[in-house]
Formats: sequence, structure tokens, C-alpha cells
Amino acid sequence: MKKIKFITCLIIAVFMASVFIQSCASSKEAIANKSGAQLWGENCIRCHNTPSPADFNDAQWKTVGLHMQVRANLTKDEAEKIVVFLQSAN
Ligand code: HEC
Repeated sequence: MKKIKFITCLIIAVFMASVFIQSCASSKEAIANKSGAQLWGENCIRCHNTPSPADFNDAQWKTVGLHMQVRANLTKDEAEKIVVFLQSAN
């Protein structure tokens, strides 16, 4: 009897874990589909005013991008998308 309870718990735990992992995977995908402009609008306002694309030149945006990738805890992919957007808009 005890064994059956344990197995049932195990099955439920595995099921819950798979649902959890699935939900993380789908939100990751949603982030991956975001444009640079969208990521810029959502992330760069968290700590200070969103800088305008006209504020810096292309080379400066590259440096700022690396700096803010660390500050904002962005993935390399997200930071690159934001930098491309900021560079293309001026
Ligand atoms: C977690 C907070 C945080 C987020 C999110 C953030 N920044 Fe910053 N940012 C800072 C801080 C703090 C500074 C002041 C410089 C320093 O001490 O790092 C700064 C400075 C800057 C500067 C001044 C130049 C420089 O490099 O210091 C620019 C431009 C800038 N941020 C752009 C951005 C952009 C673009 C984003 C979105 C990708 C962003 N920031 C997201 C915290 C943040």
C-alpha cells in the first residue's frame, strides 16, 4: 500500500515538473520572438529613462549594449537585437 502511494506521488511529481518545464520553454520562445524595439521598450526603462536611438552613434551603442547587457541581465541575443534596433534608428 505504501509503495503504491509513493509511485502515485512520483507520477504526479514528474507530471508537474513536465508542465513547469513546458511553460518555461514557451515563455522563452515568446521572448525569442520579440523585436529589438520591443525588448528596448520593455527593458531599458526599468532603471532609467529609455535612451533615444539618436543619443549615441553606432560604435557607442555597441559599447552601451555590452554594458547594459550586464546591468539588465539580458541574453546575448536580446542585447544584440536591441543594439541593432538602436543603431538602425539613427
Ligand atoms: C538593471 C538596471 C538597468 C537596466 C535594465 C538598464 N540600464 Fe542602462 N544604466 C544603468 C545604470 C546603473 C547606469 C549608470 C552607469 C553604470 O553605473 O553602470 C546606466 C547607464 C546607461 C547609459 C549611459 C552610458 C553608459 O553605458 O553608462 C545608457 C546609454 C544606458 N544605460 C542604456 C541602456 C539601455 C539601451 C538599456 C536596455 C537594454 C538599459 N540601459 C537598461 C542601469 C540599467
